[in-house]
Amino acid sequence: MSHSTAIVTGASQGIGRATAIRLARDFGSVVLVARNREHLVETAKAVEDQGAKTLILDIDLAEKTAAKIVVDKTLSAFGRIDALLNIAGAVPQIDLFEMTDEQWDGGMALKLHGARRLTIEAWNALMKAKGSVVFTSGNSAIFPKAPHAAVGTINAAIAALAKAFSDRGISDGVQVNSVLPGPVMTGRRRSYLEHWAPLHNMTVAEAMERFPRDAGIARYGEPEEIAELMAFLVSPAARWMTGSMLRMDGGEVKSV
Ligand SMILES: NC(=O)c1ccc[n+]([C@@H]2O[C@H](COP(=O)([O-])OP(=O)(O)OC[C@H]3O[C@@H](n4cnc5c(N)ncnc54)[C@H](OP(=O)(O)O)[C@@H]3O)[C@@H](O)[C@H]2O)c1
Repeated sequence: MSHSTAIVTGASQGIGRATAIRLARDFGSVVLVARNREHLVETAKAVEDQGAKTLILDIDLAEKTAAKIVVDKTLSAFGRIDALLNIAGAVPQIDLFEMTDEQWDGGMALKLHGARRLTIEAWNALMKAKGSVVFTSGNSAIFPKAPHAAVGTINAAIAALAKAFSDRGISDGVQVNSVLPGPVMTGRRRSYLEHWAPLHNMTVAEAMERFPRDAGIARYGEPEEIAELMAFLVSPAARWMTGSMLRMDGGEVKSV
């Protein structure tokens, strides 16, 4: 719809960037949120090339004031919010027995509370538009591991939070789902492997090659593949889908 507006957080790189570019085909305007302005400008060019308008908001979503700024500026620019895609995340990947309270708080401040505050702030506009929200969890919500326990714990909390919003959304006319990506090759994944490789006496190239095998998958996912699922969830085709947790993981989770 040419007049519809989507907000995408984490739009400066990785899954968020790919999603913003993909949504340009379905939405008239895409609001790009993250901290790195230079990267957001690059995303904006790619979104505009697809024919959508953009608004760049370089802001730290861990800050309590950020959600109101994002919603106010979106409504001043475009007057409506049809979709909110909470993709930003930077939970520290640190061992359970080494992670400090401050590091736990930092991880939750962005991925959990940043997304929670933004969704609440956008809710009235989403109700008016009969809009959709997607939260980004991850497979680690299903199998949390000690070497990066905060990632699994916060992703499980995100999935529960999405479910709680979807419960309210049934009466309010807002559709809310969560996506659980498996291992997708992004900057975040690369920096994790750079950390993981020396701990396992491997070069980064060896770790890159070995990781999918150990995870029981044929290859890493591409950000553009997750973007397709995000786009489906905020499309009319998925309108009756709410409160769902959708995995896209190349078969990483082996259980039913
Ligand atoms: N890649 C995977 O394998 C994988 C698997 C499961 C789940 N996920 C989840 O998918 C989401 C995207 O992951 P990704 O791999 O695409 O990560 P990424 O490439 O590291 O991108 C993370 C995004 O979050 C933004 N961000 C970080 N801190 C921020 C802050 N304080 N305020 C605003 N924006 C902030 C970053 O932008 P700036 O640095 O410019 O702020 C960036 O755009 C995350 O929630 C992640 O947990 C990823």
